Amino acid sequence: MEQKPISKAVIARLPRYYRHLSELMEEGVERISSNELSLRMKVTASQIRQDLNNFGGFGQQGYGYNVKYLYTEIAKIMGVDRQHNLIIIGAGNLGQAIANYANFERRGFLIKGMFDINPRLIGRVVRGAEIMGVENLEKFIVDHEVQIAALTIPKTKAPEIADRLVAAGIKAIWNFAHTDLVVPDDVVVENVHLSESLMRLSYRVCSIQDEKERRERAQDGGTSGAGKGERRQQP
Ligand code: NAI
Repeated sequence: MEQKPISKAVIARLPRYYRHLSELMEEGVERISSNELSLRMKVTASQIRQDLNNFGGFGQQGYGYNVKYLYTEIAKIMGVDRQHNLIIIGAGNLGQAIANYANFERRGFLIKGMFDINPRLIGRVVRGAEIMGVENLEKFIVDHEVQIAALTIPKTKAPEIADRLVAAGIKAIWNFAHTDLVVPDDVVVENVHLSESLMRLSYRVCSIQDEKERRERAQDGGTSGAGKGERRQQP
């Protein structure tokens, strides 16, 4: 069936559907209605129907969604039914933490090797992935048909390494370095910034706190003084 283009917003929600469907399969659930899925995922049933309609409407009236079918289709759409060979550049704290996470393999992401400039790290093996010197980078990418590179190096080093990765044929960069990379149009970059996520959390928790204090002040006629949220000194 020919598929219409799926919006970025829907694509961004697919991993969450995928995770819930995976859990449902583990629980032995074979089918689920949009209402049940809605309760579980805490999004509206109409949102679910709208999202899943993008893929030709897997649901059937009165039957609901076939969990395994939906899971398989979403896996195909996200490309996690295929194998992706991945390397990690920067075998420090973060690089090793990623290499130590076994679940990526279950999603089809195989960590083929790691690269670093620190001679003390070179030669070590993290969960089967050897840490090599960056001088071998280009050859390794070609020999092992590597598609994806995770960048877990300091931001000052990231642009130069990104250029080398692109020249060697890398098609996707999972960028943890705190810098915006400039790459050709046929190379995709996914930025992951935990600190940005934490700042969004900070905004939400502060908004709740501010709102609570505003209500308390309004209730006692504005006599309770300044907010309790302590301000820290800016660096
Ligand atoms: P780390 O210092 O433990 O590891 C960095 C590694 O990169 C070191 O082993 C170093 O030898 C290696 N390296 C430096 N230049 C290199 C190059 N040109 N080629 C290959 N390897 C090179 O640091 P950590 O904690 O693992 O953080 C790594 C990077 O990730 C930092 O830039 C940090 O700011 C960033 N980071 C990003 C996060 C995010 O959410 N995006 C979260 C945590 C860290």
